[in-house]
Amino acid sequence: MEFEQSHRLVEEARLVNAGGCVTIQGVRGPLPLKGGAPPALAERLTAWTTEDELGQSLDLPVVYYVLNILRRYGLLQTRYQTASDLLFTVSPAPGTTRGFQGGTVRLSRFAYLRQDQGAAKLESPLSSCRVTIHDPLLAAFVFELCSSVSRELGAAERLFAGILSSVGMLDSADTSSVSLPVWEFHDLLFHGRTSPGFHPYPYGGTFRHKENRPAQPVVKSWPETTDVLPLASPSDNLQSKLQTPFVEVLNRRQSVREPGTRSINVCEIGAFLHESARLKRVLDNPGYHCAASLRPYPSGGALHSLEVYFLAHRCEGLKKGVYHYDPQAHAVRPLAVSPEDLAGLLAVCPFPDTGWGLPDVTFYISSRFERTAWKYESIAYRLVQQDLGCLYQTMYLVATALDLAPCALGVTQCALLAKVLGIDPHSEPFVGAFTLSAR
Ligand SMILES: Cc1cc2nc3c(=O)[nH]c(=O)nc-3n(C[C@H](O)[C@H](O)[C@H](O)COP(=O)(O)O)c2cc1C
Repeated sequence: MEFEQSHRLVEEARLVNAGGCVTIQGVRGPLPLKGGAPPALAERLTAWTTEDELGQSLDLPVVYYVLNILRRYGLLQTRYQTASDLLFTVSPAPGTTRGFQGGTVRLSRFAYLRQDQGAAKLESPLSSCRVTIHDPLLAAFVFELCSSVSRELGAAERLFAGILSSVGMLDSADTSSVSLPVWEFHDLLFHGRTSPGFHPYPYGGTFRHKENRPAQPVVKSWPETTDVLPLASPSDNLQSKLQTPFVEVLNRRQSVREPGTRSINVCEIGAFLHESARLKRVLDNPGYHCAASLRPYPSGGALHSLEVYFLAHRCEGLKKGVYHYDPQAHAVRPLAVSPEDLAGLLAVCPFPDTGWGLPDVTFYISSRFERTAWKYESIAYRLVQQDLGCLYQTMYLVATALDLAPCALGVTQCALLAKVLGIDPHSEPFVGAFTLSAR
């Protein structure tokens, strides 16, 4: 069976003509095109074109030379078809391809099929290419490839399997590193899809939502009617603890899970939040696309998407309940939670089997994810996790200076909190938790 290939620049590539100098802007940077033929060829490649069609107006050796360069830069996608049917598209086309080698084949456990813009896309964190399947028979073949396939393959299946093998989507790719067995699918997907070089998508501060939705405000807004309890700045006594030499604080820092005999008080909570999470300054320079802020801990793009809530179990000066911290007003808002829901939260001990009971206070940290995703493409959730690490360490150090008992928690009751607090888990997912007690 005869297969035809046609080519096109990848969707992310832009052809820029500045003063007669033609450049292709791709995800990996600009590629200037010199001479007469390459720019003409690139122009033709803004639409699907077969090699035969390109050869009608340009020298074939030049065509192959330029196509090879475009492939090496990840700027070319290639579509395979028969005289009557589209089969599949590989984008970007890999620098080199090998034909089907024969033998038993199976899909990599890291490969996944998803719907994107109405098309069926096969992707893998082990591949910087994506394969769009146009032919239902090849989609069925992908299903079959979930088990080992050793039968004789048809011509289109052999072509397809050769490409899947070339782009690292067959099982053989999984054996290329001795470390792969320890990776779970979701961990490698998160790592690969957020690390430049392992995926074909744009990344960084692209502001891709700038035209279709406004940036979220620097601080979370609440209905006017919500109660606000102002917190004090650190008192003289707590202020002097905060003057402890930095290296001493670093050396003393450790996770302390056992609550003290006395309970924490609202002044300590106020000092702790003031030094670890308050908003120090809004950055609303007209040069910025969206307002940002400065706080004690750093944040990607100064966007500070993290929100701090806490469950007060035993806190002098604060009723048992759930509160939200307003970092701009340095105040807390008591949140309406039913007695049953409060009992449900108080029933979850972060340190089970220790016999220590609940910490005085458990902080729950959410992310107004859209703050970060509005600006950053591909890496937004990675930045949120990194911001969280910065907040954790700042909280640890401040708690240590204040002579309190801090401990980070790796897992939090994300679904329960979203339900109890009536927060949409996709608008504002809970991403972390941190316990604090008196010592
Ligand atoms: C991201 C992160 C998650 C953690 N999760 C938990 C946890 O769920 N439960 C717990 O008891 N300790 C947790 N810890 C505390 C670690 O167990 C602790 O940092 C580690 O044992 C080292 O002890 P140190 O903090 O006293 O130096 C966490 C720490 C970090 C940084």
